Amino acid sequence: MDFLTLLLLLFPLIWAFSHVLVAKFRHTKLPPGPFPLPIIGNFLLLGRNPHRSIAKLSKTYGPLMYLKLGTVQTIKHDQICSDRTVPHTAHAANHHKSSLAWLPVGNKWRKLRRICKEHMFTVHKLQSSEGLRKKKLQQLHDYLHECCSNRRVVDIGEVAFVTSLNLISTTLFSIDFAHFGSNSAQEMKGTPNLADYFPILKRIDPQGLKRESEDYAGKLLTTFDQITSERLRSIGVSSSDFPRKNDLLQVLLDLNQERDSDLSRDELKHLFLVLIVGGADTSTDTVEWAMTELLSNPEIMSKARNELRTVIGENKQVEESDISKLPYLRAVVKETFRFHPVVLFLIPHKANANVEMNGYIIPKDAQILVNIWAMGRDSSIWSNADMFEPERFLDSKIDYKGHDFEFIPFGSGRRICPGMPLAHIMVHLMVASFIHNFKWKLEPGMKSEELDLSEMFGLSLHKAVPLKAFPVKWP
Ligand code: HEM
Repeated sequence: MDFLTLLLLLFPLIWAFSHVLVAKFRHTKLPPGPFPLPIIGNFLLLGRNPHRSIAKLSKTYGPLMYLKLGTVQTIKHDQICSDRTVPHTAHAANHHKSSLAWLPVGNKWRKLRRICKEHMFTVHKLQSSEGLRKKKLQQLHDYLHECCSNRRVVDIGEVAFVTSLNLISTTLFSIDFAHFGSNSAQEMKGTPNLADYFPILKRIDPQGLKRESEDYAGKLLTTFDQITSERLRSIGVSSSDFPRKNDLLQVLLDLNQERDSDLSRDELKHLFLVLIVGGADTSTDTVEWAMTELLSNPEIMSKARNELRTVIGENKQVEESDISKLPYLRAVVKETFRFHPVVLFLIPHKANANVEMNGYIIPKDAQILVNIWAMGRDSSIWSNADMFEPERFLDSKIDYKGHDFEFIPFGSGRRICPGMPLAHIMVHLMVASFIHNFKWKLEPGMKSEELDLSEMFGLSLHKAVPLKAFPVKWP
């Protein structure tokens, strides 16, 4: 049964349901927006690139806009409401009940945030696990060197994914999750799920996405549980056979022993799941966009590489403490976040009560999308908004830590990305490793100005066409 047949069969039910909703909000003054069609609302207006379609619509309806996507109410505004609308796939393995990303603001969510903020992603804790990440960056360098010697083309996104995943998994539990050139580097790019817009379809799961997530989450959760069991066993054994690990699993187990946290085994494995899933694709896609812009703009590439060679020197590995000495590299990364934010609507927030805003009512339970892609391209905020110009950040104090509201690639306020300190390190060091000791040649016949910049909308905004190039040893 295809999706259209299914819709026709369910038509009377959906029709009745959407009327109940319309009746419920008839007396509230919703923000302006395009007229919704029965049942599907404004769904068809989204197209393949909803960030661009919504940015275009807001030129007509203003910065605060109401859309009806299927039977779900959607508001776009920069105001933060801290609960979440939970996508259907996040119900897989009951992840939504223990996940930092999907729990509503409450005690359980606060406990997990506190553990991340005070015990996992502090400067001190990240410094003590730096040695683990250094090895992963050396492996990236060695792999690029090997491709260089064998004149092998590199799929930048794939290599960045293996490195991101291993940087996170090694920081969490000193284990590699992927290997260069193997199929383990499968990205969960994600497809928008119709069941999120037409909740009535949830039981049927017409695209099979929930079943797929169930399988994927189940396997990962089992792996995390096994890793934890092995570590607990090794703690009881002689310390010379199993030297103490400097990773975050050890930190969390120590905390539990000190009774400073009451993290259950179930919460622990769901925390690992959300950190791996939340961190790997976002960092990968950001690095792939940065490299795409660097390869499209040879002058910017030369400036960034020259800075690395002047400040760090040749054939020396860039270290985490070097990031603060590399202002041009930092500007390239910021410009990538402005021009290609990968979590482009933030993770959708939800109004937990009717909220009045600019004279309009945002109804309780409405989904709130913050279009940070449109904010990054807004010419009233940025000069030459449609150009990739890292220089704009050189003399500017603007940063992505959540205080400059025009630039929030990691969000802002209570739900700001807790992994930002690790992401900051990973993205800078991966971009630096790609360009420090290598020049890049595009595939034969391809010119830098012809590089494909088209986007694909999924869990994160990634490149539609993978970036491939040959590393060449330099000088
Ligand atoms: C370039 C890399 C990354 C970007 C651009 C990014 C961006 C974001 C954004 C925009 C949000 C939602 C904020 C909101 O809804 O207001 C978020 C949430 C989150 N991120 Fe990241 N992130 C990145 C890397 C990471 C890493 C490395 C980790 C962990 C290892 C991580 C873990 C999380 C978690 C757990 C949440 C949910 C927090 C909550 O709902 O309370 N992210 N991230």
